Amino acid sequence: MRHLRVVRAQKIADDIFEFELQDPAGAALLPFTAGSHVLVNTPSGEERKYSLCNDPLEADRYVIAVKRDANGRGGSLAMCDQVKAGDMLAISEPRNDFALVKSFAGYILIAGGIGITPILAMARHLLNEGASFKLYYLTRNRASTAYADELSQPPFKGKVVIHHDEGDPARAFDLWPVLEKPRGHIFCCGPAGLMESVRDMSGHWSKTAVHFEAFTDGHTIKPEDKSFSVRLAKSGVSYEVPAGQPILDVLRKHGHHVPYSCASGSCGSCRTGLISGDVDHRDFVLQDGEKSSQIMVCVSRGRGGEIVIDL
Ligand code: FES
Repeated sequence: MRHLRVVRAQKIADDIFEFELQDPAGAALLPFTAGSHVLVNTPSGEERKYSLCNDPLEADRYVIAVKRDANGRGGSLAMCDQVKAGDMLAISEPRNDFALVKSFAGYILIAGGIGITPILAMARHLLNEGASFKLYYLTRNRASTAYADELSQPPFKGKVVIHHDEGDPARAFDLWPVLEKPRGHIFCCGPAGLMESVRDMSGHWSKTAVHFEAFTDGHTIKPEDKSFSVRLAKSGVSYEVPAGQPILDVLRKHGHHVPYSCASGSCGSCRTGLISGDVDHRDFVLQDGEKSSQIMVCVSRGRGGEIVIDL
């Protein structure tokens, strides 16, 4: 971790706060690519993952935006309520689980709410590159829309569609005309409902052309989660997976090297064969037709009893 100074902390939309971080001695920061995030040690002691939303060409600063989640585990509250200009924060080096790939047919960027943060860095990068893209930015209302002014003006004007649903599902933006004909690459970050609908509407796209990033760092915990056992088909060994712990952690704890990257169900690295068992799939990768035979072990879980995986 490296300690950076908060040189600016300000509210930029309802419940969204932006923080600009620099090296206290003015040194250059580690470079990053569009879609990267850093881990931040928040004042609550919780470590949180935040996307870098400034231009990756900027070598002297990182900018993150944080949504204040009153029902969260305290990391975002501590960031938004306690961190002020002049404070120091411990920050990891940038890491990218949501990297842009070369697309000669252009890019469709889809952001829901605070999911704009990695998408904004992508849009800045694509502008620098002169690449063709369209950004669909879907939020509840204008007041909750971070960066609305910037994205409504040149050089973004004409490349960005901002839509507010005012909290009414009947007024949700219809993405089907955008996704009906596969062309280029999709990059989507937003709430689970948005990512699920993009995943469902892009089932006819090549898997390699559709990219998601989830907000969560780590698996989703649900109050109804139960412990279950996971059996590895090749060795027959079985492990108990307690409520509150992902299968991935249990496997790694027992020395099994399952590839993984995002640990949030969006990158596809931990895809594992599923042989049997009742699974609650919580990822944004698998299509419906794949769910009976595959599982993303970083987020998905058994509903109780035993699941058997192809390891
Ligand atoms: S590690 Fe990325 S989907 Fe599981």
